[in-house]
Amino acid sequence: MDMQGILEEIVEDIGLLGRHGEVASYIPSLGEVSPDKFGICVAMADGSVFGAGDWLTPFSIQSISKIFSLALVMSYDYDSIWKRVFREPSGTPFNSMIQLEADLGIPRNPFINAGALVVTDRLLTLTGDAAASVRGLLRSESGNPEVDVDDVVAASEADHGHRNASMAHLLASYGNLENPVEDVLSNYFKQCALEMTCEDLAKASLFLARHGVSSGGTPFLSPNQSKRVNAVMLTCGTYDAAGEFAYRVGVPCKGGVGGGIVAIVPGRCSVTVWGPALGPNGNSMAGIAALDQFTAKTEWSIF
Ligand code: DON
Repeated sequence: MDMQGILEEIVEDIGLLGRHGEVASYIPSLGEVSPDKFGICVAMADGSVFGAGDWLTPFSIQSISKIFSLALVMSYDYDSIWKRVFREPSGTPFNSMIQLEADLGIPRNPFINAGALVVTDRLLTLTGDAAASVRGLLRSESGNPEVDVDDVVAASEADHGHRNASMAHLLASYGNLENPVEDVLSNYFKQCALEMTCEDLAKASLFLARHGVSSGGTPFLSPNQSKRVNAVMLTCGTYDAAGEFAYRVGVPCKGGVGGGIVAIVPGRCSVTVWGPALGPNGNSMAGIAALDQFTAKTEWSIF
């Protein structure tokens, strides 16, 4: 298969489609990114890497960080997180609070913001520094020691983070946080503000396509844990667009409001796309179109 040719065709087609959607502006410093960027990178299970377009430009990974915080917690603590977070699709936006009170402070899944706050809280208890532990994993798996937090983005989100702060307080009121609200929020905002390229992210998430095996060849997750993270990505990774993603892309995906999406083809590869303009569910519009084309051209959907 001519993978480089496929990626170049996708970049050309995405350019021809024109831009749809809007760049996230509720975190003001994300609103400054050009909506016309587009990059794609594929990291194959054998270690080869292909990229096209703006695949070497760093962007804010935002909610994509939630895959790595969940994987880290599962690697330390296996199943105990599931006493504090459900694993059902919410059918509501990523920052919705509507179900949290009805469900007595147990978030529907670890990828909506409320669930991710609980995962970060657990990681903070386990490691003493949740954001640094996510950064460490991303550095070692991507092979890029320069992966770091963009402090301006983290501060921008903290200054406008009233909704996440109210969710964290509601979780605390139900006894579902182990650490002070301020510490959980600061770690969460930092992990979301990590900056990476499509290449970094495709390499860093490859363990999920390699049944849990890390870049160094040792098990990071067991095959069973890797299966579970992929399953939650498929059902909950793109929030209330998870059905649309399963229909159009057909592999586990996790998006972020920085415009990145990570897609895992178990046993074969990890794909990262980046296009900052978002659709109504907070996922990259160019990104879903590109992944739709990718799994159509390669015939690598899991279905
Ligand atoms: O908490 C937030 O709202 C952001 N830091 C992350 C949200 C996000 O990326 C949702 N994904 N599409």
